[in-house]
Amino acid sequence: MTARTALVTGGTGGIGTAICKRLADMGHRVATNYRNEEKARAWQRQVKADGYDIALAQGDVSSSEEAEAMVRNVEQQLGPVDILVNNAGITRDGTFHKMTPHQWTEVINTNLNSVYYMTRPVIEGMRERKWGRVIQISSINGQKGQYGQANYAAAKAGMHGFTISLAQENARFGITVNTVSPGYIGTDMVMAVPEEVRNKIVAQIPTGRLGNPAEIAYAVGFFIPDEASWITGANLSANGGQYMGW
Ligand code: CAA
Repeated sequence: MTARTALVTGGTGGIGTAICKRLADMGHRVATNYRNEEKARAWQRQVKADGYDIALAQGDVSSSEEAEAMVRNVEQQLGPVDILVNNAGITRDGTFHKMTPHQWTEVINTNLNSVYYMTRPVIEGMRERKWGRVIQISSINGQKGQYGQANYAAAKAGMHGFTISLAQENARFGITVNTVSPGYIGTDMVMAVPEEVRNKIVAQIPTGRLGNPAEIAYAVGFFIPDEASWITGANLSANGGQYMGW
């Protein structure tokens, strides 16, 4: 397979780390962004010890200026970005009648506006080179909704609306645009859900367990090879059977 340059946002997180490693295992050059230099360098040393060279570029995905600077930085380090994985995301859970404007805006900016900020600086180059992969990491909760997540579910559903529009506009340029919708994965984000609430959620998962980050990374990798070039605008659920809408 041709070695490509991949940029994974939020790559230092639970699912993000697994995606970085998977894309590197597939032979690609991989970069991710960070906000905290010290934490990011420690993460880089850790993945290096596991045998992975992942490049770093500073920047907050919820800022259009920083997102563009991050893309240009990665281009300088590794070459033009062929694969963009919009993975960075946060939760600010709370029932809607108590949700503050800050809780709403933070989630929409980081999870949804970031998708525009990150994709805009890479799309023209992909169109010129006639090859590209743009993958949104959405969520089961963007598909089915979730008590306490009006902000998060709105952003995650919006990500797939973006996918299916961008897929149509860019299909003729060799660019596929797809969504992966993870269910509940054993990451810090899910472990932050109160234990008794989490236990009730796990009881609703047919596989009877939380997912592993590597199981999401596998789904992301599926969309990348040339053999996957007919698949665009898809929303691939990877949720242990918890939600089977179609
Ligand atoms: N259905 C119906 N009622 C529910 C409910 C549900 N799913 N969850 C909570 N309630 C009820 C409670 O029973 C309680 O009712 P009573 O007052 O009658 O006892 C009431 O809602 C509590 O409401 P509050 O407004 O007081 O809420 P709270 O401050 O206690 O917190 C919450 C509520 C923030 C939603 C909390 O339940 C929670 O954290 N839930 C988990 C949300 C979740 O799944 N987040 C996913 C995070 S991981 C992630 O996002 C990754 C991914 O993509 C999957």
